[in-house]
Amino acid sequence: MLFVCLGNICRSPTAQAVFEHQVASEGLSDVIHVDSAGTGGWHVGESPDQRATTAARQRGYAMAHLRGRQVQAEDLQQFDYVLAMDSQNLRDLIALHRSHHPASPPAASTTPCRFLERYLPESSEQDVPDPYYGGDQGFEHVLDVIEAACHHLLADVKHRLANPEPTL
Ligand code: 4NP
Repeated sequence: MLFVCLGNICRSPTAQAVFEHQVASEGLSDVIHVDSAGTGGWHVGESPDQRATTAARQRGYAMAHLRGRQVQAEDLQQFDYVLAMDSQNLRDLIALHRSHHPASPPAASTTPCRFLERYLPESSEQDVPDPYYGGDQGFEHVLDVIEAACHHLLADVKHRLANPEPTL
């Protein structure tokens, strides 16, 4: 499971922390590997944004151990799920794939990249809004959306684990 945003210091590490927490609550930490990355490289090696860490901690999620990294083309082969926080992230992931595999469409040879919000049935939005240039309320909204979407995402993963697709 790879969550992707722009900087890998606000939204995607928040999603990683929330999903890690939910996965641990289900006793699945040994089965589901959770990671996050940014399409940009400005914050590689940095801790998550302090505002994101504080907001997450108040809801019981640990983020301080996470460090920023930039998404690599190999990630698109290695993870079963790649979940983008917004439309620009998704466009950048597709461009990254194309730059390494010019001949093939993204879905043909690699993990399909999707919006995380796709897992939120009540939502008509696609984007988890970028909270970086806003106030603390933006970080609470990010947590609200991510908590709900991750809940449905985990149900989807558990269903797949219980019902593996048949292979030839
Ligand atoms: P994130 O937020 O993509 O949720 O990690 C951002 C973090 C940093 C920047 C933009 C968005 N930035 O421009 O440095």
